[in-house]
This record gives sequence, C-alpha cells and structure tokens, in this order.
Amino acid sequence: MSRTVHVNGEYLPEEEAKVSVFDRGFLFADGVYEVTSVLDGKLIDFEGHARRLARSLSELGMDMPVTEGELLEIHRELVRANEITDGLVYLQITRGAADRDFAYPENATPTIVLFTQSKPGLADSPLAKTGMKVIAIEDQRWGRRDIKTVQLLYPSMGKMMAKAAGCDDAWMVEDGQVTEGTSNNAYIVKNGVIITRQLGHEILHGITRAAVLRFAKEAQMKVEERAFTLDEAKEADEAFITLTSAGLIPIVELDGRPIGTGRPGRVVDRLRRLYVEYVAAFERGGA
Ligand code: PDD
Repeated sequence: MSRTVHVNGEYLPEEEAKVSVFDRGFLFADGVYEVTSVLDGKLIDFEGHARRLARSLSELGMDMPVTEGELLEIHRELVRANEITDGLVYLQITRGAADRDFAYPENATPTIVLFTQSKPGLADSPLAKTGMKVIAIEDQRWGRRDIKTVQLLYPSMGKMMAKAAGCDDAWMVEDGQVTEGTSNNAYIVKNGVIITRQLGHEILHGITRAAVLRFAKEAQMKVEERAFTLDEAKEADEAFITLTSAGLIPIVELDGRPIGTGRPGRVVDRLRRLYVEYVAAFERGGA
C-alpha cells in the first residue's frame, strides 16, 4: 500500500515524493533526523523529540524550517492519513540543495521530509520477552554523537557485524568503555544499581533514556550516570537498551556469554512495566 509522505510542505503518495540530487543530505550527510514512536495511535514524547531536533539543528547552524506547532500537525496528519496504530514517524531535515561545495551554501532552503512506518506495539515485541544478544565492537563514529545526524553508516556496519555473528545488535566500545548500542542507549545493572553512561558528546541523548531514568529515580531505584567498561558489562547482573521504537529491551548475551542468568531480569522487567504505564498516559493526538 502506498503511504502518504510529507516533503517540503506537501503531502504526497510516496512514489511522487522527490528530493534533488544536489541535496546536501544525499551528498554530505548534511542533515539531522528524529524518530517519534506511535503507540495505540498516540505520539510518544513529541516535545522531547522536537527539543532535541532544535538542538541538533542549532549545533549545525541550520534553520528550523517549520514551527514546533506545524511539526506536530504534520506528525498527526501522517499518523491519521496512514492509519498508524503502532509504529513511528521519521523526520529528516537537511541543509537543502546547492551546487556541490564543502562549505555550507549561503541561501539554501532546508529540505524537510517525514514518513511513517508501521511496527508491532510494545506488548507484541518478541525481543522484549526473549532479550537480545549483542557483540562488542570498536566505536569508530565521529566525535559528536549527541547531534542526531543522518550519517549512520558505521552503525549500519555494526548491525551487519552483529548479524554475521548471529546476534541482534552491537555495543560500541571506546577506550575500554561502552558508549552505546548502534541505535540505542546501553545500561547495565549491578547489585540493584542501574548504570548508564553520562550525557556528553560521546552518546546520543536518548529521549527514552531521559524518561526511563526519571521514573527509575521516582521509583527510588538507584541510578549511576557514568561510563562502564566492557568487563563490567560482562560481569553485570542484567543489561538492557532503550530506544524510541521499542522502549526497553533486555540484553541476555554479550560476546557469546550470558549476562546474569541469561534471561531477562527483574530490574528491566520492572522498568519496562513502568515504561508501558508511562506511554499509556499520553493523550490521543497529543504531544
Ligand atoms: N535511534 N543512541 C543512538 C545512536 C540512537 O540512534 C538512538 C535512537 C538512541 C536512543 O534514542 P531515543 O530514545 O531518543 O530513541 C541512542 C533511533 C530509534 C533510530 O535511529 O531509528
């Protein structure tokens, strides 16, 4: 079935949507993106995504081509037009089309593209029940991972390395310390303490991370925001990841060795239940 997508102010069938071959997103990966989850027809944490988008654009000296209110309206319209119950809205803004030059063009008009994808809802996620297997790989990305740019080739390579090893994902390691997963934030649990890397340029400031840490603290669970080593991860009682499109997913194996019991643990189970309650409280059509 053909989806309705949004390109530069227009709603179009996906086959008719076009972007210039000179677009700097295409030529230089000169663009940023956001992925907002849709659960039970509701947009989850739209405001957090809009705030992070504004920050990514500002870090790269790009203009926001629409207001936050207009952006919300486009998200809602795409969810409605494509009848999305569970899935996501993908948004990308690039610096726009200009003759190829490394220097930023002076007057390019930003390109804005949004589309939807249908995905199983939180309750139907098989990996949430079984947990995921990950391998550790070297983190070879650039140094500003806090900016959500579309240069995702190394994370794609990481997923392929994981697949080749018969695993679901890879945790990236820099100077012996875990940064994050290829498309998610990484956590371990040791003696009841939830440990995840502190914010900085080394990781994406996950919207799900912020929500999960907030309600973990509200539930009086112990949280340490600090870097942890790969060796610590291998000795952890539990491990998990967070990402917009799936919430929390347990990690049950790292580099071929079981984590803890090798089954999803109690802390991640509790956090996941809190997360399900959290998303259920969002308003239909709300932000
Ligand atoms: N990825 N770290 C990286 C490198 C990511 O790409 C993502 C999200 C996250 C989690 O952030 P959030 O909780 O805001 O989704 C952490 C999205 C889902 C993607 O690229 O599809």
